[in-house]
Amino acid sequence: MTHSQDHSQPPAKAHWTTYLPDEGATAGLGAKLAACIGPGVRIYLRGELGSGKTTLIRGLLRALGVKDTVKSPSYALVELYVVSRLNLYHFDFYRFLDAHEFEDAGLADYFHGEGVCLVEWPERAGDALPPPDLELTLAYSGTGREISAKAHSAAGERCLAKSQDA
Ligand SMILES: Nc1ncnc2c1ncn2[C@@H]1O[C@H](COP(=O)(O)OP(=O)(O)OP(=O)(O)O)[C@@H](O)[C@H]1O
Ligand SMILES: [Mg+2]
Repeated sequence: MTHSQDHSQPPAKAHWTTYLPDEGATAGLGAKLAACIGPGVRIYLRGELGSGKTTLIRGLLRALGVKDTVKSPSYALVELYVVSRLNLYHFDFYRFLDAHEFEDAGLADYFHGEGVCLVEWPERAGDALPPPDLELTLAYSGTGREISAKAHSAAGERCLAKSQDA
């Protein structure tokens, strides 16, 4: 957790797709992504209900040393975890009906500071969110899940590289 993110540079080779056969694989991918977490990194997770977004975030937070229960913060909208002086914000915007609700909720400042933003249902906040460093999309596939990852910045590209490390 040393480097600061650079949201500006568009990466060259910036996506991959892989199969996650079970819950452990989803959490394991989250754990790998822990290696790329630094101040201000934004990771958005798309995918329908039950596709594994919280499972992946739980794996990531566990790998960073979070011991608390990690569940979708649907009612609270955001849950804060603190690790090594880094604030990690886990958002879930499922219950937003449109982007105005995000603006009304007064959450915008979280997305422009040093905190790490992990977001479920980012599309429910519409255009109000700044682009992510890394965008993950989960989909049902047989008994498991397919996940695709796309980098939107140099920081996101580092995430992609880390997540492919053995
Ligand atoms: N790769 C996988 N293969 C099969 N089941 C999985 C996989 N990853 C996660 N699951 C299971 O999917 C279920 C839903 O996971 P999770 O709660 O993480 O989904 P979610 O995307 O956060 O849903 P929501 O949109 O409701 O917040 C859990 O029972 C979890 O164990
Ligand atoms: Mg969830």
